[in-house]
Amino acid sequence: MNTITRTRLFAFVAACVGIVLAGCNNNNSAPASPGQNGKAAPTADAGTKAAKTYTIGMSQSNLGEPWRQQMKTDLAEAAAKHPEITMVWKDAQNNSETQQSQMREFIQQKVDLIIISPNESRPLTRPVEEAMDAKIPVIVLDRKIEGDKYTCFIGGDNVKIGREAGKFMVKLLNGKGDIVELKGKGTTTPAQERHAGFMEGIKGSQIKILADPDCQWLEPNANREMNSILSRFAKIDAVYGHNDPSAYGAYEAARQEGKGREKQIKFIGIDALPTEGVTFVKQGKLTATFQYPTCGEEAIDTALKILKGEKVDKNVTLGTKLFTKETVDQGGQPL
Ligand code: FRU
Repeated sequence: MNTITRTRLFAFVAACVGIVLAGCNNNNSAPASPGQNGKAAPTADAGTKAAKTYTIGMSQSNLGEPWRQQMKTDLAEAAAKHPEITMVWKDAQNNSETQQSQMREFIQQKVDLIIISPNESRPLTRPVEEAMDAKIPVIVLDRKIEGDKYTCFIGGDNVKIGREAGKFMVKLLNGKGDIVELKGKGTTTPAQERHAGFMEGIKGSQIKILADPDCQWLEPNANREMNSILSRFAKIDAVYGHNDPSAYGAYEAARQEGKGREKQIKFIGIDALPTEGVTFVKQGKLTATFQYPTCGEEAIDTALKILKGEKVDKNVTLGTKLFTKETVDQGGQPL
């Protein structure tokens, strides 16, 4: 056999082996999962195993608040561990109509799965239902929608957090005092549940709520409201902020008043981001903050299970931790 014949023979054998292997791989490729929304999965190079890829649309209520930025970071880090996932990010900028359109765009694009952290409950209920009707699974994060037409809800237990905050307040004030409640946006379930839980927690005590404005979760609103409350009430024992930006906005209002009342009033918040609430506790500005998990990692793990056709729990409730001067250095006290 001369060199040319040998080379040709080698090429012929290699081609045959390639065809056989390609055939085997095609037979082994996994069936389309329910999460694929009827779309053909993109295939890798011929001859290698078909790798399934997924597009996940994420619509975030806003990205202006630190806790929401942290949620996006956590989601992105978790997604980056799975090269088969492509994330498409949308920011509704605190506008429910914008978020409704974003949901409908995801449906039109036929993404494989949607993750939404709704700006408000009622206006986002219908778009989630529409996605489910289009056979696109939906994971709802942190703020609930109405009814139960969604694939999975993941979030903290806001009633429990509110109740724990109430019990903490009762202990802090020895059962008696005048307080201010700075509420989150009233059309969202965390605000409703943090209030309801708190009322349970202070039940039977002599704690009186002097004022309870809706601060829409925003520090500047809390600062402005507290400024006016300080001028109306000479005695305020504590502030319960539905989130750390609210509690901190109130602390700043008391400090800016210039009478040293920020040292008499106790401030309690929720979220416990390391760079925010936890730092304020270390600095002695907040007396306590309760952790509110961002759900990022859990959302991606759950998304993958759904996309692979595995069963997941309908409601996943994440735990909380209490951060005070005493517990902050040990990473908070699980509740
Ligand atoms: C951010 C935020 C958090 C709060 C959560 C409730 O938008 O206000 O501070 O814990 O939303 O949904």
